[in-house]
Amino acid sequence: MTFNLADTAYRTDSPEAKETMYADLRSQLTGLLHGETDWIANTANFSSLVFNTMPHLNWAGFYFLPTPDELVLGPFQGKPACIRIKRGRGVCGSTVEKGESIVVPDVHAFPGHIACDVNSRSELVVPVFVAGAVAGVFDLDSPLPNRFDDVDARGIESLVKILEATRG
Ligand code: SME
Repeated sequence: MTFNLADTAYRTDSPEAKETMYADLRSQLTGLLHGETDWIANTANFSSLVFNTMPHLNWAGFYFLPTPDELVLGPFQGKPACIRIKRGRGVCGSTVEKGESIVVPDVHAFPGHIACDVNSRSELVVPVFVAGAVAGVFDLDSPLPNRFDDVDARGIESLVKILEATRG
Protein backbone atom coordinates (compact mmCIF):
# COMPACT_ATOMS: atom_id res chain seq x y z
CA MET A 1 0.00 0.00 0.00
CA THR A 2 1.33 3.43 -0.92
CA PHE A 3 0.73 5.96 1.82
CA ASN A 4 2.36 9.35 1.52
CA LEU A 5 -0.24 11.70 2.94
CA ALA A 6 1.22 11.90 6.44
CA ASP A 7 4.42 13.35 5.00
CA THR A 8 2.53 16.37 3.69
CA ALA A 9 2.19 19.42 5.92
CA TYR A 10 -1.29 20.88 5.54
CA ARG A 11 -2.19 24.44 6.41
CA THR A 12 -5.30 25.29 8.41
CA ASP A 13 -5.20 29.09 8.16
CA SER A 14 -7.83 29.51 5.43
CA PRO A 15 -11.04 27.74 4.35
CA GLU A 16 -9.40 26.99 0.97
CA ALA A 17 -6.40 25.31 2.60
CA LYS A 18 -8.75 23.19 4.73
CA GLU A 19 -10.84 22.21 1.68
CA THR A 20 -7.67 21.05 -0.08
CA MET A 21 -6.77 18.91 2.93
CA TYR A 22 -10.25 17.36 3.16
CA ALA A 23 -10.32 16.62 -0.59
CA ASP A 24 -6.99 14.77 -0.22
CA LEU A 25 -8.26 12.99 2.91
CA ARG A 26 -11.41 11.82 1.06
CA SER A 27 -9.27 10.42 -1.70
CA GLN A 28 -6.88 8.64 0.69
CA LEU A 29 -9.72 7.31 2.84
CA THR A 30 -11.58 5.93 -0.18
CA GLY A 31 -8.45 3.97 -1.12
CA LEU A 32 -7.80 2.85 2.45
CA LEU A 33 -11.32 1.46 2.96
CA HIS A 34 -11.78 0.06 -0.56
CA GLY A 35 -13.07 -3.52 -0.54
CA GLU A 36 -12.99 -3.79 3.28
CA THR A 37 -16.12 -4.05 5.42
CA ASP A 38 -14.60 -4.89 8.82
CA TRP A 39 -15.78 -2.11 11.12
CA ILE A 40 -12.92 -2.28 13.63
CA ALA A 41 -10.27 -2.29 10.90
CA ASN A 42 -11.92 0.58 9.05
CA THR A 43 -12.51 2.76 12.12
CA ALA A 44 -8.93 2.11 13.31
CA ASN A 45 -7.48 3.15 9.95
CA PHE A 46 -9.85 6.14 9.80
CA SER A 47 -8.54 7.38 13.17
CA SER A 48 -4.94 6.89 12.15
CA LEU A 49 -5.36 8.65 8.80
CA VAL A 50 -7.01 11.69 10.39
CA PHE A 51 -4.67 11.91 13.39
CA ASN A 52 -1.52 11.60 11.29
CA THR A 53 -2.67 14.01 8.57
CA MET A 54 -4.41 16.89 10.31
CA PRO A 55 -2.14 19.41 12.05
CA HIS A 56 -2.60 20.38 15.70
CA LEU A 57 -4.50 17.35 17.07
CA ASN A 58 -3.80 15.58 20.35
CA TRP A 59 -6.60 12.99 20.09
CA ALA A 60 -8.84 11.53 17.37
CA GLY A 61 -11.14 8.55 17.71
CA PHE A 62 -14.51 6.89 18.03
CA TYR A 63 -17.05 6.25 20.74
CA PHE A 64 -19.83 3.77 19.93
CA LEU A 65 -23.29 3.09 21.36
CA PRO A 66 -23.55 -0.64 22.14
CA THR A 67 -26.61 0.30 24.24
CA PRO A 68 -28.79 3.39 23.66
CA ASP A 69 -27.77 5.21 26.86
CA GLU A 70 -23.98 4.94 26.97
CA LEU A 71 -21.03 5.55 24.65
CA VAL A 72 -18.03 3.22 24.89
CA LEU A 73 -14.52 4.01 23.65
CA GLY A 74 -13.62 2.62 20.22
CA PRO A 75 -10.51 2.78 18.00
CA PHE A 76 -8.53 6.00 18.51
CA GLN A 77 -5.14 7.71 18.33
CA GLY A 78 -3.73 9.72 21.22
CA LYS A 79 -3.44 9.22 24.96
CA PRO A 80 -5.65 6.69 26.81
CA ALA A 81 -9.14 8.19 27.24
CA CYS A 82 -12.34 7.93 29.30
CA ILE A 83 -13.99 4.59 28.45
CA ARG A 84 -17.70 5.22 29.08
CA ILE A 85 -19.72 8.42 28.54
CA LYS A 86 -23.45 8.60 29.31
CA ARG A 87 -25.78 9.78 26.55
CA GLY A 88 -26.29 13.54 26.99
CA ARG A 89 -23.03 13.99 28.95
CA GLY A 90 -20.02 15.95 27.69
CA VAL A 91 -19.52 16.99 24.09
CA CYS A 92 -19.72 13.40 22.84
CA GLY A 93 -22.96 12.53 24.66
CA SER A 94 -24.48 15.87 23.61
CA THR A 95 -23.66 15.10 19.96
CA VAL A 96 -25.56 11.80 20.27
CA GLU A 97 -28.59 13.62 21.69
CA LYS A 98 -28.48 16.32 19.01
CA GLY A 99 -27.67 14.05 16.07
CA GLU A 100 -25.52 16.88 14.67
CA SER A 101 -21.86 17.89 14.83
CA ILE A 102 -20.72 20.12 17.69
CA VAL A 103 -17.78 22.54 17.39
CA VAL A 104 -16.34 23.64 20.75
CA PRO A 105 -13.91 26.57 20.34
CA ASP A 106 -13.03 26.58 24.07
CA VAL A 107 -13.56 23.38 26.05
CA HIS A 108 -13.45 25.30 29.34
CA ALA A 109 -16.55 27.24 28.24
CA PHE A 110 -18.60 24.12 27.37
CA PRO A 111 -20.80 23.14 30.34
CA GLY A 112 -20.15 19.52 31.29
CA HIS A 113 -17.12 19.07 29.04
CA ILE A 114 -15.30 15.85 30.00
CA ALA A 115 -11.53 16.39 30.14
CA CYS A 116 -9.77 13.18 29.13
CA ASP A 117 -6.52 14.92 28.19
CA VAL A 118 -5.67 18.12 30.07
CA ASN A 119 -3.93 19.44 26.94
CA SER A 120 -7.21 19.65 24.99
CA ARG A 121 -8.36 23.23 24.42
CA SER A 122 -10.87 22.85 21.56
CA GLU A 123 -12.92 19.97 20.19
CA LEU A 124 -15.06 18.77 17.25
CA VAL A 125 -17.49 15.85 17.58
CA VAL A 126 -19.33 14.40 14.56
CA PRO A 127 -22.13 11.80 14.75
CA VAL A 128 -21.75 8.43 13.01
CA PHE A 129 -24.94 6.97 11.53
CA VAL A 130 -25.71 3.32 10.85
CA ALA A 131 -29.05 2.39 9.27
CA GLY A 132 -30.32 5.93 9.79
CA ALA A 133 -29.67 6.06 13.54
CA VAL A 134 -26.78 7.55 15.53
CA ALA A 135 -24.43 4.63 16.26
CA GLY A 136 -21.57 6.63 17.76
CA VAL A 137 -19.36 9.68 17.31
CA PHE A 138 -15.96 10.64 15.93
CA ASP A 139 -14.18 13.01 18.32
CA LEU A 140 -11.21 15.29 17.56
CA ASP A 141 -9.30 17.21 20.24
CA SER A 142 -6.74 19.98 19.75
CA PRO A 143 -4.25 21.61 22.12
CA LEU A 144 -5.00 24.91 20.32
CA PRO A 145 -8.03 27.03 21.20
CA ASN A 146 -10.47 27.59 18.32
CA ARG A 147 -8.82 24.92 16.13
CA PHE A 148 -12.09 23.78 14.47
CA ASP A 149 -14.82 25.59 12.52
CA ASP A 150 -17.73 24.74 10.22
CA VAL A 151 -15.36 23.88 7.36
CA ASP A 152 -13.83 21.20 9.61
CA ALA A 153 -17.28 19.96 10.68
CA ARG A 154 -18.41 19.58 7.03
CA GLY A 155 -15.03 18.09 6.10
CA ILE A 156 -15.06 15.43 8.83
CA GLU A 157 -18.74 14.70 8.09
CA SER A 158 -17.76 14.00 4.46
CA LEU A 159 -15.14 11.51 5.67
CA VAL A 160 -17.58 9.85 8.07
CA LYS A 161 -20.02 9.38 5.16
CA ILE A 162 -17.35 7.40 3.28
CA LEU A 163 -16.89 5.24 6.39
CA GLU A 164 -20.64 4.75 6.87
CA ALA A 165 -20.93 3.52 3.27
CA THR A 166 -18.68 0.54 4.14
CA ARG A 167 -21.58 -0.75 6.28
CA GLY A 168 -23.71 -0.98 3.11
N1 SME B 1 -14.14 15.68 25.74
C1 SME B 1 -15.07 14.62 25.47
C2 SME B 1 -14.65 13.33 26.11
C3 SME B 1 -13.84 12.44 25.25
S1 SME B 1 -12.23 12.90 25.15
O1 SME B 1 -12.09 14.27 24.65
C4 SME B 1 -11.35 11.83 24.22
C5 SME B 1 -16.46 15.02 25.92
O2 SME B 1 -16.63 16.05 26.58
O3 SME B 1 -17.41 14.29 25.63
